[in-house]
Amino acid sequence: MLRPWQISLGERLDPARATPIYMQIIQALIRDIESGRLVSGTFLPSSRELAAILGVNRKTVVLAYEDLIAQGWLVSAGTRGTMVSTSLPESTRADAPLPEGCAVEADYEFLAPPVRPLAIPAGSALKLDEGAPDGRLFPAAILTRAYRTAINRASRENRLQYRDPRGSPKLREAIATMLKVQRGLPVTAENICITRGSQNGIFLASQVLVRPGDAVIVEHLTYEPAVAAFRARGAKIIPVRLDGDGIDVEAVETAARRHAVRAVFLTPHHQFPTTVALRPERRLRLLDLSRQFGFALIEDDYDHEFHFETQPLLPMAAYAPRQVIYVGSLSKLLLPTLRIGYLVAPPPVVDAVAHYVSLTDGMGNTLTEDTAAELIANGELRRHARKVHQIYAERRETFARELDRAFGGRVHYRMPDGGLAFWLRFDDDLDRIEERISAAGLSFASSRSFMTSNEAERGLRVGFASLDAKEARAAIEALRTAAFG
Ligand SMILES: Cc1ncc(COP(=O)(O)O)c(C=O)c1O
Repeated sequence: MLRPWQISLGERLDPARATPIYMQIIQALIRDIESGRLVSGTFLPSSRELAAILGVNRKTVVLAYEDLIAQGWLVSAGTRGTMVSTSLPESTRADAPLPEGCAVEADYEFLAPPVRPLAIPAGSALKLDEGAPDGRLFPAAILTRAYRTAINRASRENRLQYRDPRGSPKLREAIATMLKVQRGLPVTAENICITRGSQNGIFLASQVLVRPGDAVIVEHLTYEPAVAAFRARGAKIIPVRLDGDGIDVEAVETAARRHAVRAVFLTPHHQFPTTVALRPERRLRLLDLSRQFGFALIEDDYDHEFHFETQPLLPMAAYAPRQVIYVGSLSKLLLPTLRIGYLVAPPPVVDAVAHYVSLTDGMGNTLTEDTAAELIANGELRRHARKVHQIYAERRETFARELDRAFGGRVHYRMPDGGLAFWLRFDDDLDRIEERISAAGLSFASSRSFMTSNEAERGLRVGFASLDAKEARAAIEALRTAAFG
C-alpha cells in the first residue's frame, strides 16, 4: 500500500540541492499529505525503514518526523509508530492521485474565453499568415548588441527598477519624434503610452472607452482579435458595411442614431483584411460624426511603414488628435516577438491607459523598450526599414505573379497599395475550398474569422512578406493544389 509513495519520495530527494535532506523529506511529506497522496491515519514506515529505503542516515528521518509531529502533520502512536494526523481535514483528492506533471483541471469556477473562430489552426508544416514580417531579415547580432547597450546603460543609471507604466521615456521620445516628423501627428512624449504591441493598445483603449453595454462600431470585415477585446469589455458590437473605399459612413451615422456608440474601430491606412485605404472624404465625414455623437475613433495603423504605391495618406490622428486614439506597432517593422506598440492620445487619456497598464502588468518591458530606443537612436531601425521595404516590394510583385501563374482566373485580387498581405476572392464555394486547404494541412486564417456579419463579402487574407520567392511559389502551389486539385 505504501510502496508507490515511498518510491516516489525517494525520487524527489536531491542531495545536490541547497535544501538539507531532512527539510526535503518534510516538504515532500507535507506536499503528499496536502495532495491527498497520504491520507489521515496512514502509518508511515519506521524511521529505520525509511532511512534504509531512502539511503539516508536514520537521524535525518527522525529529525524530519519530529518536526512534522511538532507542526501537527504527523502524530506519534506510541509503539505502533508514526502516522498522518487524524485531525487534518479529509482531502477530497484522497482517492485521486495527482498526475506528476501539470494540474489538468481547476476545482473552482473561472471565466473561460468565448469560442472564437480560430485565425490560425494548429499543427501544420506550411503556414499562410495574415501579413507577418520576415523575422529572419533582422540580424540577431544587432539586436543582441542593442540589448547589451540598453542593459548596461540602465544598470549604470540605476534604472533596473520599477518604472513609469507609460513606458521607457527614451522610447516615448523617439516614437513621438518619428510620428511627428514622418506621419504629421502633433505629439510629444506626453501623448504616448508604450504598449505590448498594437493588440495591447486596442485592449487598453477598450478599457478606457467602453462600459459594459456600450456600442462599438466595427466594419463587417475586420480584425477579429480587436472585436474580441471589445466583447471582453462587454461591448455590443455593431457591424457596418464596407466597400472599395472603406467603411460606409452613412451606415455609421445610422448606427450612431440608434445606439450609444462609444467607439469606432478602423484600420484606415490598409483596411484589415481587404487592404483598401479609407477615402479622404469619408475620413472627414467620420470625424464630423465623431464630434456630433461624441464617440472616439480607434485608428489601428498596424503596418503603416509598408506602402508601395502612391503617397500614403496621413493618419486621421494627424488632423484630429482630439477624436482619435491612434495605435501603432513595431511588430511589422521590426519583430513581433519584441511586443512593442504605442498608443497615442491626449495626456489625460494616456494617464488613464497607464493606470490599466499598472493594473495588468505593473509596467511594460522597459529593457526591451530601451533596446528599441537604442535601435532608433543608432540608425539600425531606419536601415532595416529601408532594406525590408525594398525586399517586401519585390515579394509583393513576385506573389502576384505566382498567384496569376498558379490560379489564372480562379482567384480575384486587387494589387494591394500597401500592407503585407493580399485579399483573395474566389468564384467557387469558399467553404469547400477552405475545408480542402485545412485537410491538406495548410494553416491559414479562416474567412469567417474576419466576418462580423454574414452579409460581408468572403475572402482569404494571405501574407506575402514572410516568404521568399521559392517559399511563395511553394505556398501558392500548395494552396492551389489543395483548393482545386
Ligand atoms: C489589423 C491588426 N491589428 C493589430 C495587430 C496586432 O499586432 P501587434 O500586437 O503585434 O502589434 C495585427 C497583427 O497582425 C493586425 O493585423
